[in-house]
Amino acid sequence: MINDFTKAMDFRHACKVFDTEKMISDEQMHYILEAGRKSPSSFGMEGWKFLVITNEALKSKLRPHCWNQVQITSCSHLVIILTAIENVKPSSGVPQKRFARRPLTEEQIASYIDLYTKHLHQTLSTDENIYHWTSKQTYIALANMMTAAAYIGVDSCPIEGFEKEKVEETLALDTTKWQVSVIVPFGYRLNAQSTQLRLPFEEVVEFIV
Ligand SMILES: Cc1cc2nc3c(=O)[nH]c(=O)nc-3n(C[C@H](O)[C@H](O)[C@H](O)COP(=O)(O)O)c2cc1C
Repeated sequence: MINDFTKAMDFRHACKVFDTEKMISDEQMHYILEAGRKSPSSFGMEGWKFLVITNEALKSKLRPHCWNQVQITSCSHLVIILTAIENVKPSSGVPQKRFARRPLTEEQIASYIDLYTKHLHQTLSTDENIYHWTSKQTYIALANMMTAAAYIGVDSCPIEGFEKEKVEETLALDTTKWQVSVIVPFGYRLNAQSTQLRLPFEEVVEFIV
């Protein structure tokens, strides 16, 4: 079965150099970011924030901390995906607010908080553990944004090749609240797409009937 979604999956590749002459429109960028915002998250916490950087001076400051990768400065829009630390702690009051959006009684909200706190006891015990939990979820938003971009002919490149502390310092982040999870530049390819290298279907998929 081939449809527009399949075509987007084939169009997307890790773009290594963007055309500095081509900018993504506000409308397109909004479309891409909405795909991130609408992504699912554990317990509906939405423990993420998307910093959208178009400031050339800031991009240049960040590039040396991102393995000097050319995507950082050649892209049209550089998105830094932040992951929540403080906001997922019950003591912040935010999880309570997230649950309160649902049509629940006070009693039901209290029992959700109880379940959340107990289930995530280990996860919420240190900021490092929280980072691992929330950061994993940001990759769902990352994937959705990249596929949404490809759907409208916009290129991207997921970037984990960066020095986390230096990027956080450059962005003057309060890391008790937000930490950098992953980076994704968006723009238009300068060079032809590389060949998609993938393992065969049979090697990756196992059916248990
Ligand atoms: C989590 C993650 C981190 C990545 N980090 C980088 C990176 O720092 N720089 C880069 O050029 N590509 C990066 N890539 C791209 C991968 O190398 C690429 O997706 C993979 O080789 C498959 O190629 P394709 O995406 O072009 O099909 C990353 C991909 C993922 C999923």
